[in-house]
Amino acid sequence: MSKFVGIIGYPIRHSISPVFQQAALDYHSMNATYQAWEVEPQSLPEFINGLRSPDTLGINVTVPHKEAVMSHLDRIDEWAATAGAVNTVVNEGGKLVGHNTDGSGFLRALEDHGHFSPEGRSVLIMGAGGSAKAVALALARRGAARITIANRTLRRAQGLAELIGEHGPRVEAIPLAPSEDAFVRAATACNLLVNCTTIGMKHGSDEKRSPIPAQLIPSGALVYDLVYNPPETPLLLEAARSGAATLGGLPMLVYQGAASFEFWTGKSAPVEVMLKAAKAALP
Ligand SMILES: NC(=O)c1ccc[n+]([C@@H]2O[C@H](COP(=O)([O-])OP(=O)(O)OC[C@H]3O[C@@H](n4cnc5c(N)ncnc54)[C@H](OP(=O)(O)O)[C@@H]3O)[C@@H](O)[C@H]2O)c1
Repeated sequence: MSKFVGIIGYPIRHSISPVFQQAALDYHSMNATYQAWEVEPQSLPEFINGLRSPDTLGINVTVPHKEAVMSHLDRIDEWAATAGAVNTVVNEGGKLVGHNTDGSGFLRALEDHGHFSPEGRSVLIMGAGGSAKAVALALARRGAARITIANRTLRRAQGLAELIGEHGPRVEAIPLAPSEDAFVRAATACNLLVNCTTIGMKHGSDEKRSPIPAQLIPSGALVYDLVYNPPETPLLLEAARSGAATLGGLPMLVYQGAASFEFWTGKSAPVEVMLKAAKAALP
């Protein structure tokens, strides 16, 4: 029997997951198709219930369904429950199990492509939305010594700092304001700077802007932009001007997808094949 797997979101047309996930299924000669399904919020319960069918392996979940999907599942793993969001659902014989692979994908790209170990280091995270939460949790659990969360909406940064503080590191919440002293101090002292905002994203309202200027980026830091389209974001160009090392968002995208693939299929994900397909799919 031919199997189905796919991604749900609203909208979903810009996703490149179908390209690199299909490449992985084909690599293993699996009789399975990866699709993109645009699901409106009011249709979510019915859609999720349909995933219990034996021909469905599971799905990836993206904006705006990552939190809403949780109440329709039979079980949620510890990581997804702590992150408060699910990006992968697995159909285990009619029971739906939720996982979150964003944190592990972020760390694997950081360590394998950024050659950076977070243990004992100082991190500045820009943003406090869904991806910032997964990133902050992953860094806290991996032993980062200090995590500063800078966000446009300070209240959100404070909420995230409270959650992360329970996991060990010293944490601080500050406004995302490069002209303010607290931001300058955090930026110039960090070893790792991560952009978890949508600033610099193609087709976004801040497409041409970097969240931080080159003069505030330490030359010895690693600058990691979760934005993967365009591959060279305004932030990464500023980082290169300051002499810092850089890492774009594409390896994370592929590694979080590779972890999902392994949950659905039980097979080892061909990450090099997936990365090549993902690079080719970017406009
Ligand atoms: N590479 C990957 O695998 C991967 C995975 C996940 C996400 N991402 C990328 O990461 C980015 C964030 O995704 P998300 O899911 O975390 O989004 P989200 O939950 O919607 O959060 C968006 C964040 O961006 C901030 N922001 C938006 N516009 C801003 C502006 N004009 N000035 C300052 N801050 C602004 C928001 O601040 P407020 O709280 O003030 O609104 C919030 O902190 C997206 O570009 C996404 O494509 C990449």
